[in-house]
Amino acid sequence: MSQFLPESILTWLPDAIQLLYLVATAFFIRGLKLLNSPQTARRGNMLASVGMLIGIVVTLFDKQIVSFELIIIGVLIGGLIGVVLAKKVAMTAMPELVAVFNGFGGGASALVAWGELARYESITAIDSTGMVTIGLSVFIGSLTFTGSFIAFGKLKGFISGNAITFPGLNVINIGSMIAVLVLIVLYAMDPGNTNLFWVILGVSLLIGVTSVIPIGGADMPVVISLLNSYSGIAASMAGFVLGNNLLIVSGALVGAAGLILTNIMCKAMNRSLANVIFGSFGGDGASGGGGGADGDKTVRETSAEDLAIQVAYASKVVIVPGYGLAVAQAQHIVKEVASNLEERGVQVKYGVHPVAGRMPGHMNVLLAEADVPYDLLYDMDQINPEFASTDVVLIIGANDVVNPMAKTSPGSPIYGMPILDVEDAKRTIVFKRSLSVGYAGIDNPLFYAEKNQMFFGDAKKSLQALNEALKDI
Ligand code: TAP
Repeated sequence: MSQFLPESILTWLPDAIQLLYLVATAFFIRGLKLLNSPQTARRGNMLASVGMLIGIVVTLFDKQIVSFELIIIGVLIGGLIGVVLAKKVAMTAMPELVAVFNGFGGGASALVAWGELARYESITAIDSTGMVTIGLSVFIGSLTFTGSFIAFGKLKGFISGNAITFPGLNVINIGSMIAVLVLIVLYAMDPGNTNLFWVILGVSLLIGVTSVIPIGGADMPVVISLLNSYSGIAASMAGFVLGNNLLIVSGALVGAAGLILTNIMCKAMNRSLANVIFGSFGGDGASGGGGGADGDKTVRETSAEDLAIQVAYASKVVIVPGYGLAVAQAQHIVKEVASNLEERGVQVKYGVHPVAGRMPGHMNVLLAEADVPYDLLYDMDQINPEFASTDVVLIIGANDVVNPMAKTSPGSPIYGMPILDVEDAKRTIVFKRSLSVGYAGIDNPLFYAEKNQMFFGDAKKSLQALNEALKDI
């Protein structure tokens, strides 16, 4: 676009571009900060989007734009796909969508680096630092691309959710990564050797596949968060390749945010990142299949009418949402039940575990969709001391996050994971369809506890029945 501008403007344009990039960066950082809390998250998203718009418009003024027609076509097609996906995607399928976004982000960074390489008539014109940056961008971008699509396939069930591995695979993966780094240095020293480029590209694409297939489907959300970080690092590298400060900073922000999120998820599951990447925990990610109760254990069942009496005459009720609430799309009816109880003078709070559901913030977003007031949402550390003074806990489609085996069974895969101490309450009610296991694939002794009652059925239908029964009290 700069070719259409008068000479007088062109002299200060580069400085203006850098200044506006700084403004866009400020929008990103403020937006990220606001994403910290559900109350401000929407505003944060909006601010970050404005930052992105500034970045895009400013970049269009950069003199290196080749074809506006292609850019406009790309924006229209991409925008349309984005709108349709955002409107259609189910909240439970969000990890898959993020995996695809990461894959395309990584792939785009690798293509930018590759394109930059092709742009030079003689590749020997690029200095060795530039070559290393291009090599790293291709490496990280390509492995993010294939790794993300493998993660997508595992979540969608196109690829087995079980860990696909063989002895020595981890050693091969680490060895290949070191080999690619060595090849990048060799390529920087001998830029005319295009064979090296193809080997770097091919091995990097392969590493993405071989480093994600040995990870069980149950750990895919953590892997996706890590790949999100990689896609940011790849974008930052692409920023160095292009000499674009905004891309460097925004890529670094995504890289850091992805790593922080990965760390939070690992901590909430009491797992180390190494255990996630090199262990093969959880197997098939699908919940609800197999497992279940031992034949000799019994559970107590409740009915909508019986439960309505228990909650209507309680002074304090805590609602614990889990993945099943999202599957059943029961967020609106749970809000209705809660409002009904509040009108009767019952104090209602929501206890949200950091990894309840299938992605960070899953439950908060779901409850926000039903206009549940943010001040009723309590995180694990806030709500745990309150269970002792709670009359009834309604556990809706949650399983692992309330499984006491995390505290009592050293051999259990979730041992050490901090959980919601629901068993401290006077009564717990579990809403689920059967005694099937949750994500971690293990039985839950809470179901058989004396103070617990099971309300079997789809969470939405059960809550509707409870709401109806409350009308008669
Ligand atoms: P889960 O332990 O997966 O349990 C969900 C339960 O919901 C299932 O036992 C299932 O039982 C029930 N359910 C499914 N559909 C239902 C429906 N329509 N109506 C009623 N119940 C239904 O969920 P959770 O307690 O939320 O724990 C989350 C798990 O995901 C943890 O293991 C966590 O480590 C893992 N994870 C989470 C994240 C993030 S960031 N959230 C990341 C990685 C891993 P039935 O089949 O019997 O109904």
